Amino acid sequence: MLKDSLDLMKIKNKLQNSLKDKIDPSLLDKIPSGYSVIGDIAIFHQINEDLNPIKEQIGNLIIQFDSQVSIVVEQIETKSIYRKPIIEYIAGERRALTIHKEYNTLFHIDVSKITFSPGNKGERGFLINAVENGEIICDMFACIGNLSLPIVVNNPSITVYGIEANKEAFDFLKKNIKENDVQGRYYPVFGDNRIKTPKGIANRVIMGFFKSDIIQFTKAVDAIQNEGWIHHHFTSSRSLNYKIENIINPSKDKVKFRVESTEIRKIKKVSPRLVHYCADIKIQK
Ligand SMILES: C[S@@+](CC[C@H](N)C(=O)[O-])C[C@H]1O[C@@H](n2cnc3c(N)ncnc32)[C@H](O)[C@@H]1O
Repeated sequence: MLKDSLDLMKIKNKLQNSLKDKIDPSLLDKIPSGYSVIGDIAIFHQINEDLNPIKEQIGNLIIQFDSQVSIVVEQIETKSIYRKPIIEYIAGERRALTIHKEYNTLFHIDVSKITFSPGNKGERGFLINAVENGEIICDMFACIGNLSLPIVVNNPSITVYGIEANKEAFDFLKKNIKENDVQGRYYPVFGDNRIKTPKGIANRVIMGFFKSDIIQFTKAVDAIQNEGWIHHHFTSSRSLNYKIENIINPSKDKVKFRVESTEIRKIKKVSPRLVHYCADIKIQK
């Protein structure tokens, strides 16, 4: 979970108080004010390198102050379309496997192999509420079930086809389907969604990947029955200079459909300049 800002301020104050007589005062302001927690693992995203000599000390104090946390790591970067994280252990046991719980859903995850964005918690809640009973959903970038597993867990009338091309993520997806006892309602499909996306079966398609292309958007349209929703995720500047028509219009040469409505929602800030948005596109064939 993304720790709320009050909790983080309290922890940052405690860290500063504990360290104030032990470290150079100029470092106190550089102590990071935010981390996310997946299962019992706290994840920092790029700690100021001036803090390198006291990172372990900071990590151990977090374990002491935050009852949810038993391991602290830093995620240095993510690689490839699979978003494989590169992590460094800071404090606690050297274990990357954990079980994260959100919206009654258990996610087995290895944080050294797979990314899971706690900042998308609001989106998971949005989807649980947005679906109508009986819907068939296609999650084209399923990962370990990040966006679509909670929908099935919280609504027994929903069926999901989740497509994932990374074997490591796919194996966790299968494990999580079993763990949450939704076999028979969540169908995992291994492979590239450009080939594996089913046709004409879905009421809703989730495209939770920032770099999806026109071929994939066309597959999303193909997946929809007569009408339905496509949730297309992307990043853009705060001034929203992204042109959604550039992804929608080229598909019109390949599949016959019209757009009934498009609404763009802000999901989260991903960096000082970039914002994660989702376009909810209602289409009719
Ligand atoms: C960003 S992750 C999904 C994260 C998720 N939306 C969340 O809330 O945290 C994107 C996933 O799509 C998968 N992926 C990327 N390209 C794919 C493709 N062509 N076909 C199927 N899966 C793909 C990656 O392996 C990765 O697991």
